[in-house]
Amino acid sequence: MKKLSLWLCAIALSFSSFVAFAKDLTIGFSQIGAESSWRTAETKSIKDEAEKRGIKLQFSDAQQKQENQIKAIRSFIAQGVDGIILAPVVQTGWERVLKEAKKAGIPVVLVDRTITVSDDSLYTSFVGSDLLFEGRMAGAWVVQDLEGYGNVVELQGTPGAAAALDRQKGFKDMIQYFPGIKITQSQTGDFTRAKGKEVMEAFLKSDKNIDLLFSHNDDMAIGAIQAIKEAGLKPGKDIKIISVDGVKDGFTAMVNGELNATVECNPLLGPLAFDTLEQAIDGKKVAKVNTVRDRIITQDEAASLIDARQY
Ligand code: AHR
Repeated sequence: MKKLSLWLCAIALSFSSFVAFAKDLTIGFSQIGAESSWRTAETKSIKDEAEKRGIKLQFSDAQQKQENQIKAIRSFIAQGVDGIILAPVVQTGWERVLKEAKKAGIPVVLVDRTITVSDDSLYTSFVGSDLLFEGRMAGAWVVQDLEGYGNVVELQGTPGAAAALDRQKGFKDMIQYFPGIKITQSQTGDFTRAKGKEVMEAFLKSDKNIDLLFSHNDDMAIGAIQAIKEAGLKPGKDIKIISVDGVKDGFTAMVNGELNATVECNPLLGPLAFDTLEQAIDGKKVAKVNTVRDRIITQDEAASLIDARQY
């Protein structure tokens, strides 16, 4: 009996120390900001997952500024966090601060946007969508929809962001074989509704001969829809629209016939980001790239899918 209770004590002790270890993790999360509903959904996914796992999350909102993200990472290093999640606003300029994190032995998992560094070992892993493929999917849809001919305007995301650079490149990769399709105007709308509206107004003022809008996200497309309506045109009909994200408001626009298609980009990255980071903290080998699979959703499917949308 005495032996049995000793065993039970030992098991209980080791279990409680395991739980304490899990609860003791502190992770720093440097988020870009709150420019779109997509990003708000990503922030929620990461915060909710940290809470579910009993992880202490140090959250920092960079208000779209890389310098604020660099400051946040330095502060996470100084606090001695166990790991860092970084949603990088732009693709370049991370070498120095990531070297500092590596020197401190802190694993860094990138979420949703990729970076370009000379040494890939400066970060542990990337978790997110294939942004180039998203652009290609949009381009392939446009080629088919325009049957090879038409004037396209483009609303780009934040300058220098992988989500803008790759989506643009992927799109061009596909339409390059169709010289009848021309990008007549292209400008940044910073991934926001307000800027999307403003830039679309400017496009329409300078040249109304627009067949289709390719918007790097749903929020800018929703702003542009407003501008098109105010110009007395019918979005989705007079000007076809395809965007990226697949947020609930994008689905509503499709159901209303104002958005023709959206390329899904899943923001619910919390579970995969923490799985990856925890494995790295435990010293396990993790995949360098963890790609989330997305697909294109067209207007005719929207009504049947909208209720199940989580973001
Ligand atoms: O990096 C992902 C992009 O950033 C989303 O498509 C956009 O909505 C967000 O702001």
